[in-house]
Amino acid sequence: MTRIGLLDSGLGLLGTADALFHLAPSADLVLAMDPDFTPYGNLSPAELEARALNSAAVLADWEPDAIVIACNTASVQALEAVRARYEPHIPVIGTVPAVKMAAGTGQDFAIWATPATTGSAYQQNLIDSFAADLTVSKIACPGLAEAINIADIPTIDAAIDAALDQMDPGMETVVLGCTHYGLIADRIMAARAGAITLFDSPIPVAKQTLRRIGIDARGIGPDHADTGQVLATFASGRRVRLPASLAAYPAGNRLLTREAGPGRS
Ligand code: DGL
Repeated sequence: MTRIGLLDSGLGLLGTADALFHLAPSADLVLAMDPDFTPYGNLSPAELEARALNSAAVLADWEPDAIVIACNTASVQALEAVRARYEPHIPVIGTVPAVKMAAGTGQDFAIWATPATTGSAYQQNLIDSFAADLTVSKIACPGLAEAINIADIPTIDAAIDAALDQMDPGMETVVLGCTHYGLIADRIMAARAGAITLFDSPIPVAKQTLRRIGIDARGIGPDHADTGQVLATFASGRRVRLPASLAAYPAGNRLLTREAGPGRS
């Protein structure tokens, strides 16, 4: 039985969970969100490390085959610390902005991310390493992840407009450097009449996770049975049901159907 733990501040882990169920439909997932310390984008590096270690410990109790840090902000600050604690016993997979993929297009691009990721040395190193010859706009989107957690559509749309306004004229490529933002990819595309190319992380991170565990995408379980469940969800260490706000997003609705135990009341 394959079991994978994912951590994020909130609903940002939905996209990666959804990608894992798509690629490995018989795998089970355990989710650790951290609403008491949301948004991660406003935390210091030391606080982020402490929170990521805390959620990783909650997940490690379930003896997962891998732990996925489904959060750019926690990964850029705390991946090393979580790896140092759990590898090689439990592989730890991080999520970082898809700068290398976007740079491969040869087009100038923007990275939308939390204030913490935008100001991180990690993100700057990615730009210097893979996109030194391109113009890269680093755009912080304060408040956007929180608005996505509660599906506050007017605030989401205002944050999208504010981010688009900061892009150079003619810039049409956006790296989603926060896992929450993939949940509103449709709204971002619609705001520019489809003229935007997005680079997001869930599928590459899910594939990398399955590689680290040593299984091929769609290659686990007898007959690839579609039996995978969300075994448990935690909110800052407390066992909870999946939050109702998931229903605002297609990936969230798919996850709700996989929640183990009695249905939502
Ligand atoms: N989902 C997170 C990320 O990928 C952070 C959201 C937050 O600020 O809490 O960066």
